[in-house]
Amino acid sequence: MEIQTGNVNEEKHVPFVEELDNGYRVTIGKPAIHPMKDMHYIEHIELYVDDEMVGKKEFEPGDEPVAEFNVDKGKHVYARELCNVHGLWQGELE
Ligand SMILES: [Fe+2]
Repeated sequence: MEIQTGNVNEEKHVPFVEELDNGYRVTIGKPAIHPMKDMHYIEHIELYVDDEMVGKKEFEPGDEPVAEFNVDKGKHVYARELCNVHGLWQGELE
């Protein structure tokens, strides 16, 4: 599956990654939270640290598309999410 990306401030599918004291938080939809309806929702969020997947959270319609991962910090941090309508998207820690 093709991995899409874009400007996190303009495209609601690009994962917004923030650093926390003990890990990272990923939100789907910085300009506006992505819908979580029966026909259109975020299926999962994955977090990658230094090119290794260190966590994954699955979602159902009605959930909030936000995931916090209590993990060791790294240098290169990004997240991927799967929208059931619009496919796979990646966003980097800024
Ligand atoms: Fe979508």
